[in-house]
Amino acid sequence: MPTKLILDVDTGTDDAVALMLAALHPDLELVAATTVNGNVPVELCTENTLRVFDAIGVNVPVYEGARRPMVRPDFPVPREAAGGSGIHGEYLDLPPARSAKQRERAVDFLIDAYMSPEGADIVLVPVGPLTNVALAMAVEPRIVERIPRTIIMGGGHEIGNVTPAAEFNIWADPEAAKVVLTSGVRNLTLVPLDATHKALVTLDDCRRLRELGTPAGDAAATVVERRIAGYGATQPMAIPDAAPVHDALCVAALVDPSIITTHPFHADVETNGELTVGRTVIDTHRRRGMEPNADVTLDADGERFVRLLMETFARRPPGSAE
Ligand code: RIB
Ligand code: CA
Repeated sequence: MPTKLILDVDTGTDDAVALMLAALHPDLELVAATTVNGNVPVELCTENTLRVFDAIGVNVPVYEGARRPMVRPDFPVPREAAGGSGIHGEYLDLPPARSAKQRERAVDFLIDAYMSPEGADIVLVPVGPLTNVALAMAVEPRIVERIPRTIIMGGGHEIGNVTPAAEFNIWADPEAAKVVLTSGVRNLTLVPLDATHKALVTLDDCRRLRELGTPAGDAAATVVERRIAGYGATQPMAIPDAAPVHDALCVAALVDPSIITTHPFHADVETNGELTVGRTVIDTHRRRGMEPNADVTLDADGERFVRLLMETFARRPPGSAE
């Protein structure tokens, strides 16, 4: 039986790879994607998500979610002031979507999914700001006990990306992130930058993805090349001409848990700090005396990760033409 999952995304180049991995891997059944304001405004996240599914020929329902953070009127530094992102652009470099989003909103869908009996088997994988998930937990607190497993891409222990202290998904809606991390949700895995920066995809990998000659191989190469160009010389990685593909590592870990190395720690979020707003405070030395609330990923096996992408993107969806 394939593992069912819902991906909560702010698509985004790395979200795109996560969506394709979830939609195409034979051990997974992607039940739906929900979109949230993040890398780009939520309408663009929705369009980009639909583009990804159309490009690889799969039919997965897409539910649009929150337009702004849960409490704040905007990100701690609004998108316009912070400047554009060369890593994502606005629209993905894929043909415009032919399919359409669902009418139901993401928060209602999440509540309906997890309050239904089927919800007991659906892993929740949020890889954008946690606004939709926190709102769903606020509207229907019973879902906290019903979500069987959650894998979040977010946070950084030794690395920040949007500020020296904070990672984007947590920083973009710190109050929502705090709600979710401290909700008591079961079987929570946190995949921060410390792990995703150990699973880099290179330009040479992109060439090999293209050589697969499949829609997913092509699309993955296109979006990852954009990431590598976006990081450019300003953010050197451990290996040259390479970029992390953060969100896809969460999906990879669901398929093959040995790709990541986790430790049980307590994780919380700073919501007030002048210099540290959005920082994930990961208590690696039990200084707060709190019980661990997450399996925190501090390492990843980059070779296995890339191999999994290659194997999965060599596939075409069942019934599709060569
Ligand atoms: O910091 C990386 C995360 O922020 C990724 O999920 C990326 O897609 C953005 O949402
Ligand atoms: Ca994302």
